[in-house]
Amino acid sequence: MASTQHTPTVLEAAADQALPAADELAGRFPLTPNPAPAPDREYAGTMEELSFGRKFTDHMAHMRWTRDGGWQDRGVVPYGPLALPPGASVLHYCQSVFEGIKAYRHADGSVWTFRPGYNAARINHSAHRLALPQIDRGDFVASLVDYVRADQKWVPGVDGSSLYLRPFMFASEEFVGVHPAGVVDYYVIGSPSGPYFTGGFAGVPIWVVRGYHRAGPGGTGSAKAGGNYAASLLPQVEAERRGFSQVCFLDTYEEKYLEELGGMNMFVVMADGSVKTPELSGVILEGCTRSAILRLLRDGGVGVSEERIALDELVAGIRLGAVAEVFACGTAAVVTPISRLASDDFDVELPVGDVTRRIHERLTDIQMGRAEDPYGWTYRLV
Ligand code: COI
Repeated sequence: MASTQHTPTVLEAAADQALPAADELAGRFPLTPNPAPAPDREYAGTMEELSFGRKFTDHMAHMRWTRDGGWQDRGVVPYGPLALPPGASVLHYCQSVFEGIKAYRHADGSVWTFRPGYNAARINHSAHRLALPQIDRGDFVASLVDYVRADQKWVPGVDGSSLYLRPFMFASEEFVGVHPAGVVDYYVIGSPSGPYFTGGFAGVPIWVVRGYHRAGPGGTGSAKAGGNYAASLLPQVEAERRGFSQVCFLDTYEEKYLEELGGMNMFVVMADGSVKTPELSGVILEGCTRSAILRLLRDGGVGVSEERIALDELVAGIRLGAVAEVFACGTAAVVTPISRLASDDFDVELPVGDVTRRIHERLTDIQMGRAEDPYGWTYRLV
């Protein structure tokens, strides 16, 4: 049943708690400047030809946790290779979690991020599931503040660009017993980025995969755990071989209901204007962008429902015209139209529609400071 009412989830409620201003948090991660920053030519080349996630800035934020000492050694240090013993737990058992968040340059040159409290809450949700330590939200946000302040020249300013921030945490203890690590490292690195999908707003073709699953009940699906993404790679390679950009996973038991793409949530726009997205089942990731879109739609008076969406009904709806648009969303992907959905037994095309365009515009206008932010989602870093 479509509704405009909503009870905030645990992550949304945590994200709504006010954060100290960046100036109050700054300095928790003191800077050790990189003695060999990227040469001017390399820097200019990176900023002129923005890709996604291939080039990184001069520094990274870091802190280390030990079972006896807690979090310590906070700092922003030169970006560079990590020295890990081959026996480090993460290399064997994938005890690692990460976040995706962006720094945006507004027209006046200031630099902002989007709902950092949400990502702070989610990394702790993920860390809990992976038996990793909790991070103080002030430390999480301070790591973004100090890192972005050190590398602010790397935040691009062109439309659709950002400094993609990748906070991550992993088990670095040298121990191959299957046991939660007693030493954990946390880093934030950043990549000056253009759009995740290079085809712009033209839409991406998605292969609906059967026989492979990303996560199951009681598993790590709602955590942003590296292993979930590893599990999506083989089906993705097979989908790419068929000419598709990403896969859509179905539920584990019946292979009947939509879950999520390899790294994004999904929305379905009905011809009557209402919008649906797969419900939070404990298996899919509770996306920050998903949550923001739900709020924007509800506040715009759109009937929105979080529910189980059956694939066969979706395909029939597309064929009959009851479904008008389908789009993917995530921090990296923002709002990306889905132009084609296919599997062994169907192949349907979709237009890039107005609802997808409007929600993309509304969200990015807030993120880029082109529109007022009535929600307090934007957070000034610099
Ligand atoms: C993001 O949208 O930030 C993600 O983490 C998805 C993907 C790039 C892994």
